[in-house]
Amino acid sequence: MTGARGSASVRVRAPGKINLYLEVGALQPDGYHELATAFQAVSLFEDVVARHAPDFTMDVSGTVDLSGVPSDDRNLALRAARLLARETGYTGGVHLDVHKQVPVAGGMGGGSADAAAALVACDALWETRLSGAELHRLAAQLGADVPFALKGGTAIGTGRGDVLSPALARGRFDWVLVTSDEGVSTPKVYGELDAHRDRHRLDIGPVPARPSVATEVLHALRAGDADMLAAAVRNDLQVATLRLRPDLAEVLELGESSGALVGMVSGSGPTLAFLCLSPEHALELRATLAAAGHRARSVHGPVPGARVVA
Ligand code: C5P
Repeated sequence: MTGARGSASVRVRAPGKINLYLEVGALQPDGYHELATAFQAVSLFEDVVARHAPDFTMDVSGTVDLSGVPSDDRNLALRAARLLARETGYTGGVHLDVHKQVPVAGGMGGGSADAAAALVACDALWETRLSGAELHRLAAQLGADVPFALKGGTAIGTGRGDVLSPALARGRFDWVLVTSDEGVSTPKVYGELDAHRDRHRLDIGPVPARPSVATEVLHALRAGDADMLAAAVRNDLQVATLRLRPDLAEVLELGESSGALVGMVSGSGPTLAFLCLSPEHALELRATLAAAGHRARSVHGPVPGARVVA
């Protein structure tokens, strides 16, 4: 159903993301790092179904390891629903059914996608009809990656990653993702990066004072050119993630020596993203990585942000 008056339920689908480029600046007084990133939403989705209920409750299911996913107020989706109710004066509640396909604590913004989906689903179910700008404001309060999950596509994020501007991207990009059994904590990865930078201040030079996305990335996206994009990707968090998960270095090497245009840690990881030339190329690489015992799947981007589906 589509949220028309009297709907008993609303289903919203929101994508996971990868960061094609992530330049991390200095730690700010608010505990966040200033950054510049290029996000791409990919075809791995979270589904949230919202139903009228007297209180705020939820169930979580999915195709990924769900241990460690709370189904109470620690869950960002439920916090999103409560925030929307508070902001709009809505006095009822909601029951959310969250179905996860994006790896938990995987660096792909799965929790952020749940929160974005919950905002859109409750807004439709409760007929609170917030504008895009109002939803964006609430999304940014919930987490740095939530605004992008609302918007989807390909976008440049600055500030904490929550100040978005669209990036023109032509065609489709094909990726193979390798997921890990165990997630890593995003704050821990940022902390490890700070420690690494402190230790190696003299060798690696100053922390970027004003992070920005390289123009080569924007050109590659505009041209829809995977080779050009492969030469331009960057992730400042990768060095920190690899320190916490040294086993990933070997998998990156295997992917690249098996034909990926480039391999990189997705966001704070531990999910790895390998860029491929075509869907066929991605299927081949996926098979090679799976044969070596890795959990691999092929996806493509860009795809739309959180939206109501039938
Ligand atoms: O906003 P979100 O909950 O996704 O961020 C999780 C944590 O990641 C933050 O508490 C912070 O430690 C770290 N972070 C950061 N700088 C950013 C984004 C996240 O340091 N721009």
